[in-house]
Amino acid sequence: MSESCTFVIFGATGNLARNKLLPALYHLQESGKLSDGMTIICMGRKEYSREQWHEYVRDLLQSRARGSLNEEVFAALAERLHYRSGDLHEQQTYNQIAELVSNDAQFSPNVLFYLSIPPSEYGRVGHSLSEAGLNNEEHAWRRLIIEKPFGYDGESAQILEQALHRNFKESQIFRIDHYLGKSMVQNVLVFRFANLMLEPLWNRNYIDHIQITHSESQGIEGRAGYYDEAGALRDMLQSHLLQMLTLVAMEPPPALDAESLRDEKVKVLKSIRPIPKHAVHAHAFRAQYASGNVDGDKLAGYLEEKDIPPMSTTETFASLKLYVDNWRWRNVPFYLRTGKRMAQNSSLISIRFKHPPQQLFRQSQIEQLKPNWIMLGIQPNECLRMEMQTKKNGLELLTQTTQLDASSGLSSDIKIDAYEGLLLDAIEDDHSLFLRYDEIKWAWDVMDPVLKVWSTERDYIHTYPAGSWGPQEANRVFDREDQYWRNAIEEES
Ligand code: BG6
Repeated sequence: MSESCTFVIFGATGNLARNKLLPALYHLQESGKLSDGMTIICMGRKEYSREQWHEYVRDLLQSRARGSLNEEVFAALAERLHYRSGDLHEQQTYNQIAELVSNDAQFSPNVLFYLSIPPSEYGRVGHSLSEAGLNNEEHAWRRLIIEKPFGYDGESAQILEQALHRNFKESQIFRIDHYLGKSMVQNVLVFRFANLMLEPLWNRNYIDHIQITHSESQGIEGRAGYYDEAGALRDMLQSHLLQMLTLVAMEPPPALDAESLRDEKVKVLKSIRPIPKHAVHAHAFRAQYASGNVDGDKLAGYLEEKDIPPMSTTETFASLKLYVDNWRWRNVPFYLRTGKRMAQNSSLISIRFKHPPQQLFRQSQIEQLKPNWIMLGIQPNECLRMEMQTKKNGLELLTQTTQLDASSGLSSDIKIDAYEGLLLDAIEDDHSLFLRYDEIKWAWDVMDPVLKVWSTERDYIHTYPAGSWGPQEANRVFDREDQYWRNAIEEES
């Protein structure tokens, strides 16, 4: 059972709160994980009475709760749920919260703030919270969860970091990357470090390359303001995909505590070979979705989306080739790719092995042996699969690809959302699945050269039809012609 606390959501009427935070709180309520003394204060600019807010949350949970909404669970959640309207720019907003948690017995003085607001506001909100004494831990704990993106580039991240540290200690700051809360992302560590048979193969001697793809069929879903400033590289690659890379590439940590784990991730990020300016085009590719047809429906192109400037060259697709220059990985390419309005929703880590050193079966009607792959399906299908070559039944010596599937232990009807575990971790003061600033700094160091070059090339961007796997040109990041994107787990090639 988690500790009693007051959970304050800034930006409670926004996208993230609607889609993730409020449903996560409902499911934590359902599974009995919220302590009796926990209350939730939702903050937004609009005016809602408490009853109206309950109606609003009930409505949104109707479509977002797993299964159907359980009225009893909702009633218990509603008991904790408060709404306060307030302007983030006014000190009074913060003073009122301070007043509640100091003087009103129903609100615990332990406070967890969730900043689900534009990142440009983080510094100012941190300052206002401290003006109201809400950073003071003399009698109770005070914590901040900061959503990504943490900065816009390396420099702005550093400015933000300094601003936060003026008022909060490191132990109070939880920088969230919700991919670390996904069960299959955590499974990467278990798969690697609980199975000795993989370790001898997990290096440059046996692995040809590694791919990490996150594709989404949805577009920007009304987030024009944020997305057009960010683009795919900042939105997904700098954070979620690089984090997945670190877990695939890191050395076994001495222990699974927060610092040991993050030390190893940082070592990987530090080892990523910097991309020099002149090589950006060989390492990185960007594109934007144009209109397209999916199942007979016409989908709008990015430039036709509401509030997108007509000349925008923001990328909605990005692919990147990185090298991790250490003993384990030197010269093994890591190919990262993400896109909106692609053919499928899929997050997949695909590890391709090298060919055997001798093509023994060449004489036996096998043109070229297919390599082994390990596929780690993150979502929507959670799976662990190995592709091996075996002999086909029959008189001839023909091979076929067989999949060894370790997924049966993974399938579960209950899909826990990453935010559920992460909210509990923050309440329980566990930093392991939150980012340390140096991870963010090194991640920006990887991305900054690409962003700099792209920012000077604002006249043209490649396009791809909505509903496709992205443009052909994205293949130019590959080192060799026989390398290609694995789009799906089942796909042959
Ligand atoms: C967010 C990005 O961090 O992650 C979104 O801002 C993206 O653009 C989302 O859609 C993907 O997360 P998930 O959990 O739906 O795969």
